[in-house]
Amino acid sequence: MLKDGYVNAPVGSDVDLVAEIDRLKKEKNAVILAHYYQTGDIQDIADFVGDSLALSQQAAKTEADIIVFAGVHFMAETAKILSPSKKVLIPDLKAGCSLADSCKAEDFAEFLKLYPDHTVISYVNTTADVKALTDIVCTSSNAVQIVESLPADAKIVFGPDRNLGNYIKNTTGREMVIWDGACHVHEEFSLERILELKKEHPNSKILAHPECKKPILLVADHIGSTADLLKYSTKDQASEYIVATETGIIHQMRKASPNKTFIPAPPLDSTCGCNDCSYMKLITLKKLYNTLLYEQPEVFVDEQVSIKAERSIRAMLDISAKLGL
Ligand code: 13P
Ligand code: SF4
Repeated sequence: MLKDGYVNAPVGSDVDLVAEIDRLKKEKNAVILAHYYQTGDIQDIADFVGDSLALSQQAAKTEADIIVFAGVHFMAETAKILSPSKKVLIPDLKAGCSLADSCKAEDFAEFLKLYPDHTVISYVNTTADVKALTDIVCTSSNAVQIVESLPADAKIVFGPDRNLGNYIKNTTGREMVIWDGACHVHEEFSLERILELKKEHPNSKILAHPECKKPILLVADHIGSTADLLKYSTKDQASEYIVATETGIIHQMRKASPNKTFIPAPPLDSTCGCNDCSYMKLITLKKLYNTLLYEQPEVFVDEQVSIKAERSIRAMLDISAKLGL
């Protein structure tokens, strides 16, 4: 077997990848779930495109036999935890997440020993092992509401994203101990270059994901999850937007509002292309095709870890369902 399954198995130049993926999907009763940070071609072939919350909700309710996750590893792991009897595939096992990597379960467990009477809320961008140490998982779509659903005097540990954590702390006024992690994409945006762009486009609005650093959030006209930024850009009256999150979301923004202009917010280094998530962008049509064809690579989660992690993910889904999110 090739390393990492069959992801890089050669595909003949005569193969129509889009048609073949479509055929295999139907033949195998597979569903393709894609995150908004995927490239446009992947988003367009997916059965469902969404933010982290919507993708986990889809994974929990799908009737497909196979879930192919066009996203990163923690998302596929979450799908496996929610649907353990299904085969969950990811087109490239190396599609990790710098934010999830910034919080190792052993270190998090030691950290939690310092706060034994705290409720542990973890962002979904964590490994299954960290979710197993967590009381309630959250995403950027529901983090504020989940914190607010706890009693006003609840003591809270939040991990692993310090920017999202501080944003929630400021929004809710709740006392929170925050793990010091971050995502390499959202940390790289340059306030100076965003403000230069704003001068060139004075009527534009700045849209920012809460994983961005505070100075960026302070100049943003609207802050939200990927789904929320998309919704805002569709309903709002402006015609130009500077988008401070991973560039993939712009594909859906342009589709929904073809007459509006969307400008990717620039990172500090103009040559690095770091407003693209290098992990998300590991997924290609060719790998997606090989994954469906060979049913490799498959995602597994240790059973005991899965049982514990499922509780914290279901706690999030239950609160979200009650709040209509
Ligand atoms: P959302 O899709 O929840 O906004 O999350 C963004 C993200 O960083 C996913 O990796
Ligand atoms: Fe992780 Fe950041 Fe990539 Fe999202 S954009 S998957 S948080 S590294």
